[in-house]
Amino acid sequence: MTKAFVIGHPIGHSKSPLIHRYWLEKYSISGSYAALDVTPEALPRFVGRIRDGEFAGGNVTIPHKELVIGHLDDIEPLAQKIGAVNTIVARNGKLLGRNTDYLGFLANLDAGAPGWQDGLKTAIVLGAGGAARAVLAGLIDRGVPSIALLNRTPDRAQQLAREFGASVRPGALSDFDNIAPGAALLVNTSSVGLDGSRFEGLALNRLKSGAVVTDIVYAPLITPLLEEAQALRFQTVDGLGMLLHQAAPGFAAWFGVMPEVTAELRTAVLGATA
Ligand code: ATR
Repeated sequence: MTKAFVIGHPIGHSKSPLIHRYWLEKYSISGSYAALDVTPEALPRFVGRIRDGEFAGGNVTIPHKELVIGHLDDIEPLAQKIGAVNTIVARNGKLLGRNTDYLGFLANLDAGAPGWQDGLKTAIVLGAGGAARAVLAGLIDRGVPSIALLNRTPDRAQQLAREFGASVRPGALSDFDNIAPGAALLVNTSSVGLDGSRFEGLALNRLKSGAVVTDIVYAPLITPLLEEAQALRFQTVDGLGMLLHQAAPGFAAWFGVMPEVTAELRTAVLGATA
């Protein structure tokens, strides 16, 4: 039986077991997916268990996403760029580190706002933490020409822009009003929105008409930002799809079936997040 895992510390909040077990059942695969609490001190020993062949691979979450890189054999270039691994695949005795968050972000936009990229010249990304790195990698991978990276602490945006290259233009949240009229995509990667918190003084109505607004926060599913964007008749894409889509490439690598992200899966996961 093929075994996979998600490791983190703590791990109780992870939705990954629900997603992967749903797919295992749906595709009648005799596999398992376990949530395991692994402390940073125990990480090397756990990686040893993967090397010994106990698992086909698994997911990695906080606090191991950066730390685990040093324990693996190969890191995919974009995972390297993002500086974090969320998926491990054991293959031919080697451990490969991948980052599927950027794929999940892109697949969610592709599904929720088809054509979002057509003619897109400027995107605005809010927040410059870990989650912003995957979003930047995704947007750059798709060739978005200009990305305004706006953060409460502009220094952090500047640092990230230096790492990600010339298409990323750093700024402060107060720059939003000036940049918004040329922007057809707005992505919130900050923790604003969690538990219903909101940005103060962001003039969303200045965005280009027809703009797409997406949030990586999915609890609540409709964040105050998305609510306001809907009221202004912009297209919106919620963050739950990113969580579901990032899981698919890992499942495919471990269990050999590319799973589908369906409305039924969304409902199952939503029921567990409520
Ligand atoms: P993660 O790794 O999950 O992205 P993080 O590194 O703590 O988490 O980043 C959180 C992001 O949310 C940061 O961009 C943070 O802005 P700062 O760099 O200024 O801290 C942003 N953020 C958190 N609370 C915020 C708030 N009340 N207003 C604006 N931005 C906020």
